[in-house]
Amino acid sequence: MQEFSFHCPTEIVFGRSAEERTAGLLRKYGARRVFVVYGGGSVIRSGLLARIECIMTAEGLAFSVKGGVRPNPRLSFVREAVREALEFGADFILAVGGGSVIDTAKALAHGTANPEIDVWDFWTGKAQLTKSLPVGVVLTLPAAGSETSDSAVLTSEEASEKMGLPSPFNRPAFAVLNPELAFSLSSPQLAAGIADIIMHTLERYMTHTEGNEFTDLLAEALLKNVVKHAPIVLAHHKDYDAMSEIMWCGTVSHCGLTGLGREKDFSVHKLGHALSAHYDTNHGESLTALWGAWARAVYEDRPERFARYAEKVWGVDAGSPEERARAGIRKTEEFFRSLKLPTSLGDLSTGVLDHRALEALADNVTAGGTRSVGAFHPIDRAFALKIYEAANHG
Ligand code: NZQ
Ligand code: ZN
Repeated sequence: MQEFSFHCPTEIVFGRSAEERTAGLLRKYGARRVFVVYGGGSVIRSGLLARIECIMTAEGLAFSVKGGVRPNPRLSFVREAVREALEFGADFILAVGGGSVIDTAKALAHGTANPEIDVWDFWTGKAQLTKSLPVGVVLTLPAAGSETSDSAVLTSEEASEKMGLPSPFNRPAFAVLNPELAFSLSSPQLAAGIADIIMHTLERYMTHTEGNEFTDLLAEALLKNVVKHAPIVLAHHKDYDAMSEIMWCGTVSHCGLTGLGREKDFSVHKLGHALSAHYDTNHGESLTALWGAWARAVYEDRPERFARYAEKVWGVDAGSPEERARAGIRKTEEFFRSLKLPTSLGDLSTGVLDHRALEALADNVTAGGTRSVGAFHPIDRAFALKIYEAANHG
């Protein structure tokens, strides 16, 4: 087990009607002037935003509301929102929505606390984040895990780059988790979220570090639990117990616990971010479209690790480590397909890509061949291209 430090300070309030506690939580964490962000309108249609506004009004909190965050959230929106939050005098940012809204709220908190710095400079490393505003979350989509994670992912339209910023300042002050708020999700969006939850643990699970049994068991339990409840919740979106399991696993999957004591990989995320930067691909779908190609390209580096995954999560216990590893990869892809998720680039709305497009993706993910990504098998430009080529079929 490697050395680690783990600090996940987010207060989690879980359960039916949990959002009714929002005003009390805002007060507890020092909010007086709350800038609320939301997405394209699902929280208006569900009545959630109106309820949160009522609760804040009753508590005597001043607030300003801004909607319009799009999936794969954009830097230009954040810059505009920073100007508005500064004008309003915001001292707290409240996200009501999924990962895109939460990441926008985090970026907005950083930008508002540091008005003299262009917010993208924190993502490129040109500026160091030393302060921010507190962020609260009312979660509507179990997926990204941003409600407790130390990351925020933004897309710069100018740079055609989608990038994560890791920082302790990205951990929200509180997160309200009511599984009922996710009942209104469409099946494709719920399935994509479930895939993302799986990937946050899998991208930590494939490692060369040995002797980390508790973290392994935790990861395997989480993966099995998501695999068990995914078909139930997709068949019955309003199954409270199944949605609770998925939502809680989503939060635990990306808070850091399932990877403690070993290096993170996250190469499939980075390969997927390039797809989203170029084609606005849905995040979860970008991962399932590429994971199989990545896994087949790297499993021979440590077949016994993939074999353990196959055995513990999918019950594959026969054959050599290589055979079990390949069976585990096949079962994972079959599972994604059973959720109607893509397992190749051809399955995405962009369809099969030409070679120049694949080269552009490989350039994007490796900054023109100047960097490698991932830890399990560091991926340079040639290897990234190999993975995109392997995924590039119907
Ligand atoms: O915008 P609205 O109208 O709210 O609709 C959204 C959006 O169209 C809809 N939705 C959300 N909750 C709903 C709902 N529709 C009906 N009922 C509800 N209850 O779902 C659509 C997708 O929303 P989005 O927030 O984009 O999805 P998700 O939560 O999957 O977040 C994806 C973003 O998070 C980033 C991804 O890269 C992507 O940009 N990630 C952030 C991470 C982090 N900060 O730690 C880690 C992840 O790996 C990920 O990269
Ligand atoms: Zn993700």
